[in-house]
Amino acid sequence: MSPRKFFVGGNWKLNGDKKSLGELISTLNAGKISADTEVVCGAPTIYLDFARQKLDAKFGVAAQNCYKVAKGAFTGEISPAMIKDVGATWVILGHSERRHVFGESDELIGQKVAHALSEGVGVIACIGEKLDEREAGITEKVVSGQTKHIADNVKDWSKVVLAYEPVWAIGTGKTATPQQAQDVHAKLREWLKVNVSDQVAQSVRIIYGGSVTGGTCKELASQHDIDGFLVGGASLKPEFIEIINAKQ
Ligand code: PGA
Repeated sequence: MSPRKFFVGGNWKLNGDKKSLGELISTLNAGKISADTEVVCGAPTIYLDFARQKLDAKFGVAAQNCYKVAKGAFTGEISPAMIKDVGATWVILGHSERRHVFGESDELIGQKVAHALSEGVGVIACIGEKLDEREAGITEKVVSGQTKHIADNVKDWSKVVLAYEPVWAIGTGKTATPQQAQDVHAKLREWLKVNVSDQVAQSVRIIYGGSVTGGTCKELASQHDIDGFLVGGASLKPEFIEIINAKQ
């Protein structure tokens, strides 16, 4: 048995309304959820409070982004303090869509990680290579570079989950093979061992994201260094329960 508790995050992205998310939440609350899995649902900002109020306490709630300071003249942004104020305890940072659609840099993501952790909010920190980078054979260089910007801003790793999400696999229906994912996860764990500590390398959950489905989750979950998932599309469906229970 891995000492690392299996972790499954749902990333609802910019989807749903009170009606459909309310139905999804009812399905999750009624589902048979393994007590051996930590489950966190990433709600759109405006529904964080709603999700926290409706979801059973066994589910955590995550924001999908936040800013790097507590308050001020930053129109449209939210802070970790606000996330905590509505009872959510996690934030997804550095997601590929934040990096590549909204142009967030490694530096900005690092500052956000530092601030969220300093406020006591857990961080699901996302990294991943683009297709051209994989094809150029620089996957390891890219993901370790991204991880360094995150690691430089972490003092306490107990509140960090690292999410490896190859950009070419996100929302494309093209899941990485269990071997492809395992290879990168093992390299990331090695990177943590060399650059942070053996203890952190052994204890940090490294989760995989990119077109995870009920059909692909079991084999992925059986890989030694895959400690869970970050799930987009399938987290909006009852199938999410199968993914949560992938280790069973
Ligand atoms: P997907 O998204 O499961 O729809 O590919 C994963 C993610 O973006 O976290």
